[in-house]
Amino acid sequence: MKPIKVDLGSRSYSVLVDRGLLKKAGTLISPVCTSKKVLLLSTKPIYRLYGKNVVSSLQAKGFETHPFLVADGEAHKNEATLFKVLSEMTRLSFQRDSCLVALGGGVIGDLGGFAASIYMRGIQFVQCPTTFLAQVDAGIGGKTAIDFKGIKNLVGSFYQPKIVLADTSALRTLSDRQLRTGLAEVIKYGVIEDSELFDLLEQKLDKVLQKDPELLTHLARRSCEIKARIVSADEKESGQRAWLNFGHTLGHALEAYFKYDVLTHGEAISYGMWFAALLSERSGLCDRTVVDRIKDLLDRAGLFKPIPRFDERKVYEKMTLDKKAKGGQIQFVLTRKIGLVTIQKSVPQSVIFSTLRQLRA
Ligand code: GLY
Repeated sequence: MKPIKVDLGSRSYSVLVDRGLLKKAGTLISPVCTSKKVLLLSTKPIYRLYGKNVVSSLQAKGFETHPFLVADGEAHKNEATLFKVLSEMTRLSFQRDSCLVALGGGVIGDLGGFAASIYMRGIQFVQCPTTFLAQVDAGIGGKTAIDFKGIKNLVGSFYQPKIVLADTSALRTLSDRQLRTGLAEVIKYGVIEDSELFDLLEQKLDKVLQKDPELLTHLARRSCEIKARIVSADEKESGQRAWLNFGHTLGHALEAYFKYDVLTHGEAISYGMWFAALLSERSGLCDRTVVDRIKDLLDRAGLFKPIPRFDERKVYEKMTLDKKAKGGQIQFVLTRKIGLVTIQKSVPQSVIFSTLRQLRA
């Protein structure tokens, strides 16, 4: 399959999306990575599934490979784990030309990317995302971070990998809930840029939920194409990269309000996308059919996990603390029609509150 290019001049790289890539990791990584030493960062469950294949494939290409396993989950995407990774690389005498390969979901990619970006002011880095969410979003685009003082992704950097290997055979072992959380981001790509993708999801949702391998590979690939195009045009999010935040303003606020415990990221942004669609309708940007299509697809995808009633003032406050809010003013990504979004900075507070109440009910 043709690689997808993230076009950033001398920092350009390929995103490969296909089945069976992890077994060929060494062959695929060696042309773009000059390192001899590799730290393979992963978690126990992921390493148990794919570690052996990746290690032997890297070793076959002459990479001295050092697996390093850290605890799973967002709670460990913190400075303590970061310093463990940095300590291990120091212990192994890693040099500027060494490489960190992140094998896992978004937590491993974010943490590994950040460690790679600050160790000796930056070493080579490879992303091997294994969850649907990481394959369609976090694994590409170079956003790296750890959570700090309870705030998600507060400390981080933009640091691009040398290559991304999204092996869609890894999706076989995902739980239904993990698959659906990634699917929420695919639905987002349909709304922001690709009405055909949205139509396809409406028509073939049952097959997607049954994990049809070809269809999942197609969806991951199309999502990566859209994200690669956007990141190539606006790496540091001064313009259209903000479109990727459709549904995320409320989504991030709900995740934080429920302490990252009740909703997955995809479930939280699904409420956020429904909310953004309602705001769009109330702002006169789109008609009711757009809202209904977005809400129905998310609902059919099982993404509206029932949530306890929330305090809308506290959720509003969290939205004003979003990294994308400027001067306390919340920036929303709203939709004009399926496949087209726009940034809106001046949604009246009264409209935000009445829409939040509608959602809460
Ligand atoms: N996840 C949104 C971005 O990478 O910009």
